[in-house]
Amino acid sequence: MNAIDQRQKADALSYLSGFGNEFASEALSGALPRGQNSPQHVPFGLYAEQFSATAFTVPRRDARRTWLYRILPSARHGRFEAMTHPYFPGNLAAPNPNRMRWDPLPIPDAATDFLDGLITMGANGEPTSPSGVSIHIYVANRSMQRAFFDADGELLLVPQAGRLRLVTECGRLDIAPGEIAIIPRGMKFRTELLDPHARGYVCENHGSPLRLPDLGPIGSNGLANPRDFLAPSAWFEEDKGEIELVQKFQGTLWKTTLDHSPFDVVAWHGNAVPCKYDLASFNAIGTVSFDHPDPSIFTVLTSPTAIPGIANVDFVIFPPRWMVAEHTFRPPWFHRNVMNECMGLVHGEYDAKAGGFSPGGLSLHACMSAHGPDALSTERAIAAELAPHKIDNTLAFMFETSLVIRPSEFAASCEQFQNDYDQCWAGLRSTFKGASQ
Ligand SMILES: [Fe+2]
Repeated sequence: MNAIDQRQKADALSYLSGFGNEFASEALSGALPRGQNSPQHVPFGLYAEQFSATAFTVPRRDARRTWLYRILPSARHGRFEAMTHPYFPGNLAAPNPNRMRWDPLPIPDAATDFLDGLITMGANGEPTSPSGVSIHIYVANRSMQRAFFDADGELLLVPQAGRLRLVTECGRLDIAPGEIAIIPRGMKFRTELLDPHARGYVCENHGSPLRLPDLGPIGSNGLANPRDFLAPSAWFEEDKGEIELVQKFQGTLWKTTLDHSPFDVVAWHGNAVPCKYDLASFNAIGTVSFDHPDPSIFTVLTSPTAIPGIANVDFVIFPPRWMVAEHTFRPPWFHRNVMNECMGLVHGEYDAKAGGFSPGGLSLHACMSAHGPDALSTERAIAAELAPHKIDNTLAFMFETSLVIRPSEFAASCEQFQNDYDQCWAGLRSTFKGASQ
């Protein structure tokens, strides 16, 4: 057992189960006020602060807010000064209808924390009027010694390599590749590395907060079940001394220096909380007769728009699963889509691509761009003997969004950009046998 494992074992975290619950948690017994939210005298001399992740007046079913009971109010800070970052949030290149794919970005040699290593790969909103999503990749080799919050969006983290400890105002979450985490818009956090390096994906959701999708005829169970989501238990630190606090605001970064830790929340209650979810808990549903269902059957979370069924973003996974369809072309079919598809791979191989799409890589298929299995996967699927078979040891995912994603200038020109991506379909040949048959 190495030192990191020992630390993990010695410091195993406890969680609260459920999605969107009215949770309550206190690190000191009795710290939560009873019977009201903002008493004149908060237990232990704490301050009460409401954290509103949705407008006060949204329908109750949509409301997300949490009451924080902390040592010092968040308001106690100095002026924020603008700061620069070479890649986050990056400038966007012109819209481009081409199919795009990238190799994984390398882990840097220089000391790089999660914030240093955030690289914008694309976005479909304007920085000064955030809407849609921004897609980033993080690479890191050291823990953050500072704190960050994103005023522009909720963050969906999809680790691909290396475990992270997320220290948030509501407490701590440990996540590993195969798990995801959601950090509400505006919630302060830092990431600590539990392995020598880390890499993963971030979907910055500028739209409505992610929620579980409706299940329709599937019924009252299935896909991601609410009780498998885990929120942190209250935890606080009293560290004094200078701590940098960075925020993303209207597409720019700002920093200030605090003289105390922002992770000083001793107790909290509410439903605007970070959470994590193990994608292995996902109850994958597929055909037991023929044809491949639309990939929306694999939706884990959705950020709806005002138009029913049109998502600002859907988070969809392609997990291990049995394939049993009869007389069916089993890979994801050839496709043109009004929606925009951005895919990543946590581990293994995606069943529609025989190479070229590596763990940590990324692909982007914009509105109405034609895509589907590559030539080799297609040939194999047509020739396959259709016995039941398990797609195993793989985890791909997709951010599917209603607005066209523009690649960042970095993404459009970096050396990981695959100029030859179109070639994976070049080998598709006509098998048309003619009208005489
Ligand atoms: Fe597609």
